[in-house]
Amino acid sequence: MKLLNATVAHIGIAVPDLAEASAFYRDILGAEPRGLGQLDGATIVSFQLGEVEVELLHPESDDSPVGRFLARRGPGIHHICYRVPNLIETLARCRAQGYRLVDEAPRVGQGGNRVAFMHPKSTGGILIELTE
Ligand code: CO
Repeated sequence: MKLLNATVAHIGIAVPDLAEASAFYRDILGAEPRGLGQLDGATIVSFQLGEVEVELLHPESDDSPVGRFLARRGPGIHHICYRVPNLIETLARCRAQGYRLVDEAPRVGQGGNRVAFMHPKSTGGILIELTE
């Protein structure tokens, strides 16, 4: 089976307080905060750490996906995003091998990139986002 050369694109972290969470990345790690606006009911601030971005996700309401995540599991890693060379092909491979997908087809995510989420039930309890 050929390797996909997947890389980690970003890590999404659910935070109850954006300013407090940002302080660590800005003041201790020295990363520049970048406001990314809103997506799926969350305000996003990102920090580039080498090749990988950390996205702090703060819910705008309790009944948004990140709001429900915080209520159920508390602050922490919300999802990991892997970059793959061909998203359609990767989704087909997932389906063929019985993985549960949240998005059957790619949709437009952060920054206009095509993304698709996989269900945490079939990926070791971690919500996986795939992008290309
Ligand atoms: Co993401």
